[in-house]
Amino acid sequence: MKTEPIVILSTRELNKMRQAGRLAAQLLQHLEPMVKPGVTTLQLNDEAERWTQAHGAKSAPLGYKGYPKSICTSVNEVVCHGIPNNRQILKDGDIINIDVTLIVEGYHGDTSKTFFVGTPSPTAKKLVEVTEECRRLGIAEVKPGAKIGDIGAAIQEYAESQGFSVVRDFVGHGISNIFHTAPDIPHYGTRGKGKRLRPGMVFTIEPMINEGTWEVEVLDDSWTAVTGDRKLSAQCEHTLAVTEDGVEILTLAD
Ligand code: MF3
Ligand code: CO
Ligand code: CO
Repeated sequence: MKTEPIVILSTRELNKMRQAGRLAAQLLQHLEPMVKPGVTTLQLNDEAERWTQAHGAKSAPLGYKGYPKSICTSVNEVVCHGIPNNRQILKDGDIINIDVTLIVEGYHGDTSKTFFVGTPSPTAKKLVEVTEECRRLGIAEVKPGAKIGDIGAAIQEYAESQGFSVVRDFVGHGISNIFHTAPDIPHYGTRGKGKRLRPGMVFTIEPMINEGTWEVEVLDDSWTAVTGDRKLSAQCEHTLAVTEDGVEILTLAD
C-alpha cells in the first residue's frame, strides 16, 4: 500500500508528463511491427533500449529495484513483469504484453498493450478485447469528485460479466517524477469507496485480466508473475491526468 500524500502536479510538471507519455506511446507503436513469430523477447528489449536512447530518454525499468532489462514482456500465462531473454521465441498464437516506461526530463510515461503473435485463439482474442474495454471503462470513471473505488468497480463488473477475473496483487499507481507512488488504483472494488479524485492527480490504470483464477504466483527470478492455473492473462495500461472536467490520457502517440 502506498501511503505517501497524493501529489497534485503543476502545469509545468504536467507538460513533462505529456512529453514522456507521448514518447512512451510512440515506442509501443514502434515495437508493434516487430511482434511476429520467430522474434525473441530480448530483440524487442534491445530495440526498445536503442530507440529510447536515440530519442534522448531513459528506460525507467532498467535497474529499478534490481530489474535487469528495459521493458517487460509478458507472454501468455505471464501476468506482468516478464523479463526479456534470448531463449524466448514468439510463436504463432501467443499473446504478449509489452510494457514500456520512459523518463523524459525526470518525468515518467508508463503504457502497455497486449499484442497477438500471428493468429489468436478465440479465447485469447476475447480476453484481449475485454481487457481493453476494462481499461476504457475505468478511464471513463475518471473526473473530479469521483472516487478511486469507482474505477475498480467498473472494471471488475465488466470483466466478471464476461467470465474473466481481475488480478488483485498488482494495481495502478500514482506516477510523476517517481515511478510508483500514491495512490494505489485497484482494478477491483466498490463504487463510492476510496479517495476522491482531484484535478492535477496523475496515475495509471493497467488492468490485468485472467482467463481463469485471479490468483498469481511469482517465479524464482522474483519478478515474473504467472497465473495460478497457468491460463492466459492480458493487460493494457495508460497514464492519465485528472483535468478540471474529466480526464486526459497522457500515453497517446499523437
Ligand atoms: N511498467 C510496470 C508498471 O506498469 C512496472 C514495471 S517495474 C519493473 O507499473 F521493474 F518490472 F520494470
Ligand atoms: Co504502471
Ligand atoms: Co507499465
